[in-house]
Amino acid sequence: MHLLSTLRVILSLTGVICANYTIFTDTNSASDNQTSIATSIVNGMVTSTDYYPFISQLYITENNGFSYSFICTAELIGQQHIITAAHCVSDDNMKLRSPSLFRLNIGSATLATLSDIINFYTVTNIYGAGFATSFANDVVILRLNKPVPSSIATPVKIYPYKITANLPVEVAGFGSIYYGGPISKTLLRTLINVSDSSNCSAFNPDWANNSGPLVCSISINGNAACNGDSGGPMVAKLNGKRVLVGTVSWGENMDPKSNINCGANNVSFYVRTAYFVKWIASVMNVDYNTLIEIVNSS
Ligand SMILES: *[C@@H]1O[C@H](CO)[C@@H](O)[C@H](O)[C@H]1NC(C)=O
Ligand SMILES: *[C@@H]1O[C@H](CO)[C@@H](O)[C@H](O)[C@H]1NC(C)=O
Ligand SMILES: *[C@@H]1O[C@H](CO)[C@@H](O)[C@H](O)[C@H]1NC(C)=O
Ligand SMILES: *[C@@H]1O[C@H](CO)[C@@H](O)[C@H](O)[C@H]1NC(C)=O
Ligand SMILES: *[C@@H]1O[C@H](CO)[C@@H](O)[C@H](O)[C@H]1NC(C)=O
Ligand SMILES: *[C@@H]1O[C@H](CO)[C@@H](O)[C@H](O)[C@H]1NC(C)=O
Repeated sequence: MHLLSTLRVILSLTGVICANYTIFTDTNSASDNQTSIATSIVNGMVTSTDYYPFISQLYITENNGFSYSFICTAELIGQQHIITAAHCVSDDNMKLRSPSLFRLNIGSATLATLSDIINFYTVTNIYGAGFATSFANDVVILRLNKPVPSSIATPVKIYPYKITANLPVEVAGFGSIYYGGPISKTLLRTLINVSDSSNCSAFNPDWANNSGPLVCSISINGNAACNGDSGGPMVAKLNGKRVLVGTVSWGENMDPKSNINCGANNVSFYVRTAYFVKWIASVMNVDYNTLIEIVNSS
């Protein structure tokens, strides 16, 4: 059982890495090729940077900068730091890849096009939380080459409170709009439910409750994160703004005979950001109190 689910995760990780939206810098060959990819918001509605002022897109460079492929959704978490999923920046052996391979398009609710490449941020450091030792540590902090001005994006704050099954949460990303379908060029968001069903532990031995490293969600009505949403934000509203509960990690269909891994009756797992807040603060070299949002009593 454990081995099986591990194998399935590796397969779905491969699927996620294969999100396929590529910008070719040689305009004679092609531009903005969008072919089928592996992950995205299912049943989403279009949203904007008004709601998600921290939203970012992670690209990988190929062929010495000849092309840039969209791989995951990410969030600005400090003026010069990004949070996303570890599997987005890891190789097949779960080892972190070189920072020089990655670029970020920050503060835009639409995927980058050729003219945006000049504004891409580069990555100087990748800090991992131990993904190679456990899938539950599917989170990384990326340090950017320079601070992001507040006119471009505002860092997200972390939701520090207990996660209950009735907490209203939302997930957002640029992933596929159905399993195996094309990614969305526009940021989509959808309401989902936190779950504490026994099915969460049945599908993931790393999950015991929503107070640990992972938050579980089971989709009844089809709303879900899908391929390309990896690293994207699960948010709750606090003091009138969206704060980070978790980041998209992986999901699968609860029916072992089905290979449609996004949508109705599928289980998905999110890395609970607050669980990692002290580690995040230490790699960013800040006090963790500056990273969390406290409920405003007034
Ligand atoms: C992306 O799509 C292109 C063209 O369809 C294909 O050749 C390439 O292998 C795909 N890349 C990935 C990572 O899936
Ligand atoms: C981009 O996609 C088109 C088909 O949609 C294909 O003809 C073209 O070869 C692709 N370009 C590259 C560089 O893969
Ligand atoms: C767990 O999953 C099974 C199979 O999909 C389903 O029949 C059952 O209702 C689920 N249980 C809960 C508590 O959601
Ligand atoms: C959550 O599960 C962990 C084991 O992973 C356990 O130590 C902890 O007490 C549980 N917390 C709650 C609130 O049930
Ligand atoms: C969330 O739970 C409510 C109440 O059980 C249900 O009506 C709704 O369809 C659920 N949403 C999702 C995304 O499963
Ligand atoms: C998972 O989601 C897909 C897409 O909505 C759906 O076709 C499939 O039936 C779901 N899985 C199960 C077990 O219902």
